[in-house]
Amino acid sequence: MLSLAAVLLLLLPVASVASSPFKEELKTCHPDCTKFGNCNGETGQCDCPFGLTGPSCQDRLFPACHVSKDPGTLPHYGTWYPKNCECIKQLRDWPGSCPDYLHYEGDMAPYLPPCFYDILLQQKLLCYSYKGRAPAEQLSDSPALDDPAVEWFRARARPAMDLQPLAPADRPKASECEHKTPDGGQWRPLSECPDRCNNRGWCQIQGGNYQGRHTDPNERWCNCHGYFEGKSCEVADPSHCYRNCSGVGECVGGWCHCKPGYWGHGCTRTKAYTSAVGWRPNHAKIKIYVYDMPTHVVHRREVNDQWSLIDLMYNSELEFTDKLLGDWGVRTENPWEAALFYVPTYTYWFTGNVGHPYFLIQHVTKWLQDNSPFFNLTGGRNHILWATNDRGVCKNQMAPPEMQHSIKMVHFGQAPPVPYAQRSSGAKPSMQAILDSLQAAQQGRFTGFGPFGPMDLVEEGEICIRPEKDVVAPNYLHNDWVKPESYDKVWLTTFQPDGTRVVKRKPDAAPRKTTLYFGGFTKPQMSYSQGVRQTIHKMFGPRGKYNPEGANARPDYFIAGPMGGGAIEGMKTAKFCLAPMGAGWGIRLAEAMVSGCVPVIVQDHVYQAHWDILPFDEFSIRIGRNELHQLVEILDDVTPQQLVELQAGVERYHRAFFWDAHWGGLAYNYTLSALKRRAISLWSANYRRHTRRLQHEREALEQY
Ligand SMILES: *[C@@H]1O[C@H](CO)[C@@H](O)[C@H](O)[C@H]1NC(C)=O
Ligand SMILES: *[C@@H]1O[C@H](CO)[C@@H](O)[C@H](O)[C@H]1NC(C)=O
Ligand SMILES: *[C@@H]1O[C@H](CO)[C@@H](O)[C@H](O)[C@H]1NC(C)=O
Repeated sequence: MLSLAAVLLLLLPVASVASSPFKEELKTCHPDCTKFGNCNGETGQCDCPFGLTGPSCQDRLFPACHVSKDPGTLPHYGTWYPKNCECIKQLRDWPGSCPDYLHYEGDMAPYLPPCFYDILLQQKLLCYSYKGRAPAEQLSDSPALDDPAVEWFRARARPAMDLQPLAPADRPKASECEHKTPDGGQWRPLSECPDRCNNRGWCQIQGGNYQGRHTDPNERWCNCHGYFEGKSCEVADPSHCYRNCSGVGECVGGWCHCKPGYWGHGCTRTKAYTSAVGWRPNHAKIKIYVYDMPTHVVHRREVNDQWSLIDLMYNSELEFTDKLLGDWGVRTENPWEAALFYVPTYTYWFTGNVGHPYFLIQHVTKWLQDNSPFFNLTGGRNHILWATNDRGVCKNQMAPPEMQHSIKMVHFGQAPPVPYAQRSSGAKPSMQAILDSLQAAQQGRFTGFGPFGPMDLVEEGEICIRPEKDVVAPNYLHNDWVKPESYDKVWLTTFQPDGTRVVKRKPDAAPRKTTLYFGGFTKPQMSYSQGVRQTIHKMFGPRGKYNPEGANARPDYFIAGPMGGGAIEGMKTAKFCLAPMGAGWGIRLAEAMVSGCVPVIVQDHVYQAHWDILPFDEFSIRIGRNELHQLVEILDDVTPQQLVELQAGVERYHRAFFWDAHWGGLAYNYTLSALKRRAISLWSANYRRHTRRLQHEREALEQY
């Protein structure tokens, strides 16, 4: 018996391994590549940090943006302190700065031209030039202010390069009116700072940064460029890069410089493959391949020379990517067997919270089309890109099909009930219909709501996701919500012998005396929160039905303006917590869940994070705007037993809404499940087809 079983066990795996069509095969690079770059064993190219290029990363894209001619220095291209005028010119002339294929097809053209570098959008930037030096010899090395070899200009890069010489009286002076940095400090020649800031920062008097302020007028200090630290910016701390560069690299300008043998995001790559059968995704175990796009396409940008410290609530792209990079249960280095393709882009670093990644998506899509053998096979339908900005990919509605097809990971899941594929009929989106209905909409659209204006309706009509293919993921919650000092006030965590975490409601937690909690900002425009915040403030305000001084007062409802950190405690003692939108996505669903408070979601047409993988009816209450005026009656109707059941649902699922895995967060796991469902949707041919789909795409799919 035993030997038969052993024979069977031996036979099965041998049979499948022997037939594997994939072979490990590493390419080699220029022998000097790894000095400043990483040898990419898949492409045989030397991967370089942004601004460096060539077979050994010693060629410079913008030589005049460097501080010195030493090899391996990085260019700096922000607007915080003056650069050499030639640096602005070189950035402007580089085709990757404002690529000519960027083109917006929507109705309302974006306000800014399609350029990725802020310095090109400035009107009167101070810059300097060394007299009589060839362009190749110009450097952004912060010369002495009275250096007689230096001339000063005001520069504008677009539409045409324009340099206005500064009269001697207007030049920055060493004495009275030195050049101010925007933090109130004074910019100084690099020579005055310790070790010239190791060519990784600039020299200042006073002002300050995220590490604190400098008040001593005699002190010269180094304000370090992105991701460098130390008195003279001598530290390239790997904790600012993905996966701490896996312990085998340095974080250089937000990019891992790895030891030989490693490459890629966080130095996580060591293997590359070829396939004898082309693309053959594994259907038994869905796997994800992660692209390492060249840094000249996308990189973790500095914003205006500085550390780009983002509001942590937009941090889920980094969290998810960092976890995926180390999750070899799903990740594969072999693209030929991957079902899904993940494209890390640092979107938020290009858009901020109010910008839109339209041009970034277009730029990345073009690169994928031109360079990846996998993108065209499905028209990009299995490629994954993030957009954590407030309104996600709402502006993509009119984008060309190749930009639309990819899976977008967003926080803002608005999908109004209007047909998506209007573009294919050549019709503009329902703008005219919106304007037609404006009259009707201004009054009495929903009981108790104020009038809506045209822009409010336009924004509400924007189609921001296609639910069958895009993924709505939870936002990142600031540590204050989930660190044990806070979390343990309402949750009791125990561990089973095998290490499994068990989280229950804490029996002796403070009683939940508030019936409904909402502390939040509002704005006059009804596009903000779809009018919900305005209406709730009105209902519970001085002239509202539940006026705290009136006959219907409900002191058990807490409705107020922004509470800052107070909300962390306030939600912990409430039964229900209102979860409206903000300018785009709302943060309060996640906040309510981790606080053990049953969310009351009022967001018409907006798919919530994890809508497709969690039973929202078990832990939340959903209310339409047309019912908001009856909120009190609806919540009064909830019986104590029903509340207990909803709270049990919050207990079961709240961990899906936060990311910090070391504190029990499961947002990564649930988001990954949602992504895997998209692979199944694709194989089920559930993705809506575009009628005007390009012929070559159809052919590619038929071949597959
Ligand atoms: C990276 O290192 C920092 C400390 O330097 C640590 O706090 C963090 O957990 C590390 N991250 C990973 C993914 O190892
Ligand atoms: C993918 O399709 C685009 C659009 O037709 C085309 O320009 C590109 O060359 C194709 N890419 C590859 C790798 O064949
Ligand atoms: C969540 O995902 C991580 C990474 O794959 C894994 O280590 C962990 O066990 C998962 N947790 C659960 C509860 O599935």
